[in-house]
Amino acid sequence: MAWAVIPAAGAGRRFGAALPKQYHEVAGRSVLEHSLRAVLDHPDVDGAVIAIAADDPHWPGWREVGGKPVLSCIGGGERADSVLAGLQALPATVDESQWVLVHDAARPCLHRDDLARLLEAGGADAVGALLAAPVRDTLKRAGDDGRSVGTEPRERLWRALTPQLFRRGGLTRALQAALAAGAAVTDEAMAMERMGLKPRLVEGRDDNLKVTTPADLALAEFLLAGRGK
Ligand code: C5P
Repeated sequence: MAWAVIPAAGAGRRFGAALPKQYHEVAGRSVLEHSLRAVLDHPDVDGAVIAIAADDPHWPGWREVGGKPVLSCIGGGERADSVLAGLQALPATVDESQWVLVHDAARPCLHRDDLARLLEAGGADAVGALLAAPVRDTLKRAGDDGRSVGTEPRERLWRALTPQLFRRGGLTRALQAALAAGAAVTDEAMAMERMGLKPRLVEGRDDNLKVTTPADLALAEFLLAGRGK
């Protein structure tokens, strides 16, 4: 059994619209609602905490979705602050050893098969796991002048996706340590790695995209419509 934490407190500056990206509608629902329903869809997921911005006028105030409890809390300045706030807002019944799925509010196209494989593989792992996709493009390193100065071997490189699955206590301590050290952690696995731990990579679909620009919304619409959701 697991609970989900959904960081949804980002301003989405790269998106460039007044309405934050998680509240734009695709395939009949907001991006946030798709992301939330995608994680709650699995029978082993008991409920979710959503971290929202302090002055968020768009938050619909859900208390339950799909028959499962939905709690909210105020997020923080960085993604890691928001995830930590979400972990702290989990019900007391979710003990330290229980699994928590962290899923970006901006990833509406999570496929149920990927979630099932992550829960199965991660739940059997001592550390935890994340969905990730192998890098398919050739990667260039840029010099100060913007010219290509080298090519990174891509064989062992993966793109980190979400959800990421870790135990409540271990992830809380890892995020607290990273934040105390002033480290810019951009996902949960990075905080765990800083503790010397090695999260398991579970290969996920390439189309679990993070909505970052308006063009991504059109792509998400296409993908979700094609699934008939
Ligand atoms: O900005 P980025 O696309 O990396 O954000 C990933 C997720 O983290 C988004 O769902 C965003 O709302 C969330 N986030 C947050 N609090 C922040 C920054 C980002 O909850 N301070």
